[in-house]
Amino acid sequence: MAVVNADIDTQRAFGGVAATYHDSNVENRILRAMRERFWRTVEARVPPGSHLLDLGCGPGTDEEFFAARGYRVTAIDWSLEMTEEARRRVREAGVADRVDIHHLGIQEVDRLAPATFDAACSNFGPLNCVVDLEAAARAIVRRLRPGGVLIASVIGRVCPWELALYFMRRDWARMRVRFSLAPTPVPLESRTVWMRYYSPSSISRIFEAAGFARVELRTLGLFVPPPYMHAFADRHPAFVAVLQRIEDRIGGWPGARSCGDHFLIVLRKTGAGG
Ligand SMILES: C[S@@+](CC[C@H](N)C(=O)[O-])C[C@H]1O[C@@H](n2cnc3c(N)ncnc32)[C@H](O)[C@@H]1O
Repeated sequence: MAVVNADIDTQRAFGGVAATYHDSNVENRILRAMRERFWRTVEARVPPGSHLLDLGCGPGTDEEFFAARGYRVTAIDWSLEMTEEARRRVREAGVADRVDIHHLGIQEVDRLAPATFDAACSNFGPLNCVVDLEAAARAIVRRLRPGGVLIASVIGRVCPWELALYFMRRDWARMRVRFSLAPTPVPLESRTVWMRYYSPSSISRIFEAAGFARVELRTLGLFVPPPYMHAFADRHPAFVAVLQRIEDRIGGWPGARSCGDHFLIVLRKTGAGG
């Protein structure tokens, strides 16, 4: 499949699920747990009152949470439908005065009105959808104050649950998907999202070249199964709770933190420039 229209395909695919995305996320216990860990990391690293830039905000689930916790949020998303959902959500939650939402791609972050943010965040893989992440990283660093952090949950390359699942199904092509270096087509409902998969070290290299240093890394979804196995998690909640405790305890250890469905990375802007 040609990559020519990758951005447009991805935009259409997310637009198609915008109306249902928040509810299906909230119903999924694995996604809920991942989101809570993302929230906790942001709260631990960025004091309330700070101005956050959310890259790929989706339907505004995190905007509602962060604004209620006292943050100011500027949020962007490449899907118009997602930004409309996000605006509706923050309006209904009564926090619209603390949230600015723009229909922009991460690759277009330079088009935001001049402003410098205390921190940037990106939850559940928007960075994986950016075709030229190297250029985007340079644009993101320019938008942060010196010492500002970027907190991102990124879809990783080595997901043992997924490898085991597709090995049992003898689906070798599916097993290889995350190892492609090029943008890869991934089905979303009846449409296609183009993803680049990253190891923590490859993301670190891209952002270090742009002027960041890595300050924290942990796995999300090494012991706990990936979110699409939510039916399994619903059938075995006690087992998954034990796995979650193990992951919370050792998910930041070397080795463990390099694998998993997602990883959570914190990068700090090192210099004044960008
Ligand atoms: C898996 S969703 C996550 C949404 C949200 N961060 C959350 O936690 O619910 C990925 C989001 O990234 C957005 N996205 C994809 N490519 C993008 C790009 N190049 N720039 C900005 N947003 C993008 C999609 O429209 C979608 O809303």
